[in-house]
Amino acid sequence: MAFEQNAQHFGGYVMQRPRLGYVSGVPLDQKTCDTWDQIWKFQAHPEDILVAAYPKAGTTWMQEIVDMICQEGNAEICRRAPTYDKHPFLEAVAPKPVPSGLQLAENMKPPRILKTHLPVQLLPPSFWEQDCKVIYVARNAKDCMVSYYHFQRMNKGLPDPGDWGTYFSRFLAGDVTWGSWFDHVRGWWEAKDHHQVLYIFYEDMMENTRQEIEKVMRFLEKELSEEVLEDVYQHTTFQAMRENPMANYSTIPSFVMDHSVSPFMRKGIVGDWRNHFTVAQDEIFEKEYWRKMEGTDLSFRTQL
Ligand code: A3P
Repeated sequence: MAFEQNAQHFGGYVMQRPRLGYVSGVPLDQKTCDTWDQIWKFQAHPEDILVAAYPKAGTTWMQEIVDMICQEGNAEICRRAPTYDKHPFLEAVAPKPVPSGLQLAENMKPPRILKTHLPVQLLPPSFWEQDCKVIYVARNAKDCMVSYYHFQRMNKGLPDPGDWGTYFSRFLAGDVTWGSWFDHVRGWWEAKDHHQVLYIFYEDMMENTRQEIEKVMRFLEKELSEEVLEDVYQHTTFQAMRENPMANYSTIPSFVMDHSVSPFMRKGIVGDWRNHFTVAQDEIFEKEYWRKMEGTDLSFRTQL
């Protein structure tokens, strides 16, 4: 069903990086655009849980936390399948014969844990109609940019990022898959006032993981003992997830994700942007940041 079982079909195959198309002005993989009508009509179930985030904000970390909470701390069940198989990625369309996120979701019985990187205005309306619980993870733009740059280098399922300088400008302009970080975090921030959206910050997760895990638990209306919460915490540390082949994307063949270029579980820290941004880039960034974030009470920490 997944990449690894179909790898033989790709024998000697060199993966082409995808082209981008647009849905309502948002750059998305052309294959996603081609199936957009079906994605938009996706039928959510009221018990489905959606983990939403801009790419590289800590989506996988949150998915594993949510899974552990729903499985009441049973790590064995959480190791039942790789992240991308157990939590369908709504808008993902991989080359055939790998099933799309929609196909995976439709073959799974609700309640499902689903993943999306879609900006809020592109979320299929059935999630709102069914009043689903959504957990949104936001991470400061500087670290997101750095993480996304390295991820695009290693993941041939995304466009070539070019060099760091080129990527810096593209990211700021929103010229990357899933579009502008600014529109994304602001759109979901507004949505939390109208829907069941729990808005969580990566930096808070880093600073006080147990506290944020408990927030998620309460939002999901679960009651877990201190002991089980500790299991959730231990199973989802950076170290534990880096060593867990079901959580670290190492089961995807290397012609798609090449962890020798940059591992999926790369650094998992706040402030790595300092190792990438030049002084000039930081000045450009800060100017653009305050322009684009004007009028919002949403704020981020770029260091702890
Ligand atoms: P870095 O590239 O900065 O290391 P996503 O799942 O949205 O693609 O996000 C991936 C980012 O989250 C990567 O950031 C990854 O290392 C980090 N991450 C994943 N699991 C983590 C964990 N348990 N603790 C801290 N960071 C984690």
